[in-house]
Amino acid sequence: MTKIEWCVDYCLKIAEIDKLHIELVNMLNQLIEERQTISEESNIPELLSNLIDHVRYLFRNEESYLIQYRFPDFKEHRKQHGEFLKKTIACRRLFSDQNISYLDSFIDDCKSWIASHILKCDMEYAPFIRIQLYLDQYEKLRFQKRFR
Ligand SMILES: [Fe+2]
Repeated sequence: MTKIEWCVDYCLKIAEIDKLHIELVNMLNQLIEERQTISEESNIPELLSNLIDHVRYLFRNEESYLIQYRFPDFKEHRKQHGEFLKKTIACRRLFSDQNISYLDSFIDDCKSWIASHILKCDMEYAPFIRIQLYLDQYEKLRFQKRFR
């Protein structure tokens, strides 16, 4: 099973979210690596638990930007996050029953989800959030100049 290669096309140019997306890819690659050398002492359950925590944190972070700046398609975006989180939780639960084939299909789903979600859905909000962040920064600088 091939690993996911991070590429510049996945960058939203929103530093905090890009950093969390890179971490997500690294965690999935760790899972792929562990899957290839599966043994009795596999730490896949732990990797899956860490993945769930990270996915929750990433989505909470992304959604807080969308709420703060009132992104129009927020509800649809949150729905997609919810579906992916559910899949991740289900994989963690089923892996406890040693269901390897489920893990393989989960990894494949993750690979296509990353490509489709980041490149299509996240890219839709990225320019919107970048403009809002720029305006916030601009206002802050203007305010500082006024009271210098
Ligand atoms: Fe997203």
